[in-house]
Amino acid sequence: MSPTAYAGAPAPTGHRAPSTEADFTIAQDWASYTADEHDIWRTLFRRQEALLGGRAAPEFVAGIADLGVAADGIPDFRRLNEALGRATGWSIVAVPGLVPDAIFFGHLANRRFPSTCFIRRRDQLDYLQEPDVFHDIFGHVPMLMNPVFADYMQAYGQGGLKALGLGALHNLARLYWYTVEFGLIETPDGLRIYGSGIVSSKGESVYAIEDPRPNRLGFDLMRVMRTQYRIDDFQATYFVIRDFEELFAATRPDFTPYYAELRQLSDLAPETVLTTDRVLHRSGAG
Ligand code: PHE
Ligand code: FE
Repeated sequence: MSPTAYAGAPAPTGHRAPSTEADFTIAQDWASYTADEHDIWRTLFRRQEALLGGRAAPEFVAGIADLGVAADGIPDFRRLNEALGRATGWSIVAVPGLVPDAIFFGHLANRRFPSTCFIRRRDQLDYLQEPDVFHDIFGHVPMLMNPVFADYMQAYGQGGLKALGLGALHNLARLYWYTVEFGLIETPDGLRIYGSGIVSSKGESVYAIEDPRPNRLGFDLMRVMRTQYRIDDFQATYFVIRDFEELFAATRPDFTPYYAELRQLSDLAPETVLTTDRVLHRSGAG
């Protein structure tokens, strides 16, 4: 690659520096964020805060409140870790970007959440195709304050290491996608969001709850692990849990026989609705 390929590109900041550690961690280097970077966080935070009333799950709202990350700027992970450690024994570790599957699962299995620390640019406020610190911290960490969800994430990490060995990662990855990233939950007041990919997105936090187009189907573990997903557009289908106990109970058994069964079943396209699906009405439609 010629050096001119980089002409005009911004210098890579310390927040994306490659790790020299075997577990891919880096230092967050909180002191080096610029005023502009903190301001981007504040803009994103205030926007989502205004949208999430009546849309986010009560567990998410409680997690934000108890974490004490406010609108004031990119949080210092050391401060978050005090509250998170007290609540559920989880901690956040900084990484430069996506890490290899085995590394990612190994962190989760040890109750460590790998978070990016760079923040998107101002022209990327509405959409970014990779996780940044706003998605990782605002989207994921509040739910890790919830004891049941915290245990689910650790079990997922252990299950991920197992799935890697069984060649079933494509099935297990769909479970993460349709719960941790894009999950909805039924509450007495209507559908609510707990998925990090939705709560950290301006457009999708409205679309997931109010738009008539997407399917909202009752959670079914095997159904979820058969269903392909979209990575470049709002989801065609959301799976809705009744509560986190349901999710935890469904995922507690050994998945080895499930993976064997899934090998005999065809994958389903994202927009598929089966006659056996429990189809839920959209919020407000009764
Ligand atoms: N019980 C699953 C297994 O045996 C692991 C798992 C737990 C996966 C929770 C996802 C969520 O593989
Ligand atoms: Fe995520």
